[in-house]
Amino acid sequence: MEDAELAGVQKTLSPVLRAKALDNRLPDPILGDVWAERAMRGLDPDYDKRPFGTSQLGLAAVARAKAHDDWAREFLAEHPDAVVLHLGCGLDARVFRLDPPGTVDWYDLDYPATIALRRRLLPPREHCTLIGSNVTDLAWLDDVPHDRPVLVIAEGLVPYLTEADLRRLLTTVVETFPSGRIQFDTVSVWAWRTSKWDPTLRKYGTRFRCGFDDPAALAGWDPRLEFVDEAPMNDSPVLMAKAPANIRRAYRVLNLLPGMKRSTRIVRFRF
Ligand SMILES: C[S@@+](CC[C@H](N)C(=O)[O-])C[C@H]1O[C@@H](n2cnc3c(N)ncnc32)[C@H](O)[C@@H]1O
Repeated sequence: MEDAELAGVQKTLSPVLRAKALDNRLPDPILGDVWAERAMRGLDPDYDKRPFGTSQLGLAAVARAKAHDDWAREFLAEHPDAVVLHLGCGLDARVFRLDPPGTVDWYDLDYPATIALRRRLLPPREHCTLIGSNVTDLAWLDDVPHDRPVLVIAEGLVPYLTEADLRRLLTTVVETFPSGRIQFDTVSVWAWRTSKWDPTLRKYGTRFRCGFDDPAALAGWDPRLEFVDEAPMNDSPVLMAKAPANIRRAYRVLNLLPGMKRSTRIVRFRF
């Protein structure tokens, strides 16, 4: 199993990838990502043969990916000269799904071990550069062009950063580029605080390191940063329209629990 090469937080890419792979088997998928199925099979050939191996309960993460894709498409349509920084990319095939024109320079960044795996499980692509680095070691920014609009996408990454590291990352991006959009998802304070008991995170030996009840307030970190809007996840219309009936029912019940509906917030900012 290839994921034996991953450690700690790097293993968190697997449940998200599995959700995207299983989504692709739905008659009318949310994301319809053929690369996810291939990469997941390469990562863990028996991923769907275990108990609950085909459970679609992870579909909210696929709705999250769709929200990020839709926002990114919108930005790239307006900025065909953009530089895209896809941070904590894991084995997500966003660049293939969005298929941007050759005028866009795309950077997929994750830890070196994840990037090594990515090289084996996903094909290379022109104008797409892989960067193996800790995102908080900001020296990686020296290797990307600074004179064009930037789109930063961080799906499932921010909760694993400390607030201080996130703040440094966001303010450095704003200082480095002339203009851009930054889209990411965060977890609420209770989800952060209770993450040390989350069975999946415990299994991987990791936990969340930050959480926000009002992520829009992060715009206050830099005078140029402005909150744009938020996309729903656990109650998103696309999830409620396309998930199998039993999964829709499960989310309706889960969403009745206090704080559950907004335990993850998908937000975007501009500068
Ligand atoms: C939940 S996974 C999400 C992967 C991918 N974005 C997706 O949605 O399929 C989190 C990813 O963030 C990466 N990650 C976490 N902390 C990181 C850091 N400090 N530097 C680089 N990558 C990091 C992990 O290796 C992992 O691939």
